Amino acid sequence: MKEFSSDDITCLEDIIEARRDVRGNKFLDKKIDDEILDKLLKAASNAPSVGFSQPWKFVIIKNSKKRDEIYQDFVKENEKAKKIFKDKELYSKLKLEGIKESYLNIAVLYEKSDKEILGQTSQKKMGEYSVVCAIQNFWLMARAYNIGVGWVSILKPKRVKKILNIEKKHKLIAYLTVGYVSEFLDEPELLTLEWEKRKTLQDIKVI
Ligand SMILES: Cc1cc2nc3c(=O)[nH]c(=O)nc-3n(C[C@H](O)[C@H](O)[C@H](O)COP(=O)(O)O)c2cc1C
Repeated sequence: MKEFSSDDITCLEDIIEARRDVRGNKFLDKKIDDEILDKLLKAASNAPSVGFSQPWKFVIIKNSKKRDEIYQDFVKENEKAKKIFKDKELYSKLKLEGIKESYLNIAVLYEKSDKEILGQTSQKKMGEYSVVCAIQNFWLMARAYNIGVGWVSILKPKRVKKILNIEKKHKLIAYLTVGYVSEFLDEPELLTLEWEKRKTLQDIKVI
């Protein structure tokens, strides 16, 4: 059994605390080697999954035409989103994606199994939650390699699937933008801009 040292624990804490959601204004035009990308995907595939179903697929997108089309969908969806929030001025200033600026994009899919999955018999969404676990592993390992990841959710899944020719049986869980960055901010941007406050342990602990 492998035991971890206090230095290892500090290192993990540092990576978790230093992980950021990265938007377009921070991405660099720098190649990610395939071996490094494979390390990140390996970390993703080591995530826990219901019944060890590993129900994930990662579609790697470098094609700029497809990315342009997806970006157009973002623009459309973001215009709609803008109208929903009170502070429209601040919302308009936020950079909320890096679809075109990042080195590559990844569509993360949930692949529904044809057979019954142990543990998913009462709660059907467990497979999709497993995919989110894989995304978090990917995000943290990327940070360890000083690679930034942004999660872009202001997109219509149906449209993204059409652009990428994704089969009907697959569900889009996340659209990620991935690349080396000029900097990682010390704090979430939405905290710095006072869009939201950080919850304390007291806020989240229910005793
Ligand atoms: C499920 C999910 C969806 C998100 N969607 C977006 C998005 O569409 N655009 C964006 O700029 N950030 C998005 N984010 C990033 C969050 O805004 C970010 O995680 C949060 O502000 C905290 O900042 P940090 O990740 O840098 O700590 C998303 C994050 C998650 C987990």
